[in-house]
Amino acid sequence: MTTFLISGGRGLVGKSLSQMLRRQGHKVYKLTRYPKRKGHIQWNPEKQFIDDKYLHEVDVIINLAGANIGERKWSDKRKIELINSRVNSINFLRSSVAKMPNLNYYISASGINCYGYNMHTEKLESDDYGDDFLSKLVQEWEHASNSFQDVCPVAILRIAMVVDKKGGALQKIMKTVRLGLGSPLGSGQQYLPWIHIKDLCRMFVYCIEHKKEGVYNAANGYVSNKEFMRTLSKKMKRPFFFPAIPRSILSLFLGEMSTMLTESLKVSNEKIKNTGFEFFHLNFDSAIAEIVQKES
Ligand SMILES: NC(=O)c1ccc[n+]([C@@H]2O[C@H](COP(=O)([O-])OP(=O)(O)OC[C@H]3O[C@@H](n4cnc5c(N)ncnc54)[C@H](OP(=O)(O)O)[C@@H]3O)[C@@H](O)[C@H]2O)c1
Repeated sequence: MTTFLISGGRGLVGKSLSQMLRRQGHKVYKLTRYPKRKGHIQWNPEKQFIDDKYLHEVDVIINLAGANIGERKWSDKRKIELINSRVNSINFLRSSVAKMPNLNYYISASGINCYGYNMHTEKLESDDYGDDFLSKLVQEWEHASNSFQDVCPVAILRIAMVVDKKGGALQKIMKTVRLGLGSPLGSGQQYLPWIHIKDLCRMFVYCIEHKKEGVYNAANGYVSNKEFMRTLSKKMKRPFFFPAIPRSILSLFLGEMSTMLTESLKVSNEKIKNTGFEFFHLNFDSAIAEIVQKES
């Protein structure tokens, strides 16, 4: 049995991942600012506070903490929050490792939107960071995580849009499709990398079990926005002829955040596959079919 400490463990990914780990017989503590039940450990990175009662048990840290990127418009103040909630949390966690004598592995979430947009080739982990806000955020986030290299092996998963009906972007999109309002965004030609929640959790477990180090793109694949909406509408048995929502409208309502939806990104998942990892869902159709099937 391994003892895990998951920062941000009460969020979308943390919920599924902790279930998977507990089913495998492991012990999971979740670091949260708002503890509600047994197994929750309170911390507040902003105030440099952590309840250290159980930290001596921790073997592995999984870092998922960070203010939600898609929750609201990126004002200058929000941009600072998005960065600080990640970088300062990791730095604070790093400063607490003396209380974790058994710590032997650290793995962190990061974002796939770190290469810039609109290139025709698939982005590899060895490619440079882009120049936009998210690329800079990811660079700082990953740099902070790499400070754990002095202590133990470090892995970083650059996560694509998580396909899960329990939350995140897909849940919001499904609400619009359910109303019969499914339509492409912008030109609809732009590619969007995605990962099914089950495959993401399997990838975390795989990296932990095999003590993988370094950065990995965490994406089953990528799909054009039009295909995304068409597939979802079809599986949900809802119409798909609503006119495309123009880029200018998205930009008006979402500001700079709209780039996540309107710009194109293709990524390679060969690096993790070459180590022997196999994705369960081989295409978007199968991933969405499973999600919609579970709904009905
Ligand atoms: N879901 C996706 O599609 C996706 C895609 C790419 C990358 N990611 C990244 O993967 C990680 C996990 O994603 P998720 O979807 O599970 O995120 P989530 O549901 O938004 O959960 C993130 C958790 O971070 C904690 N948090 C928020 N603000 C914080 C702050 N200021 N200081 C410390 N902790 C804070 C919260 O925990 P408490 O409120 O309990 O403290 C929250 O439960 C995130 O870093 C996210 O950016 C997610």
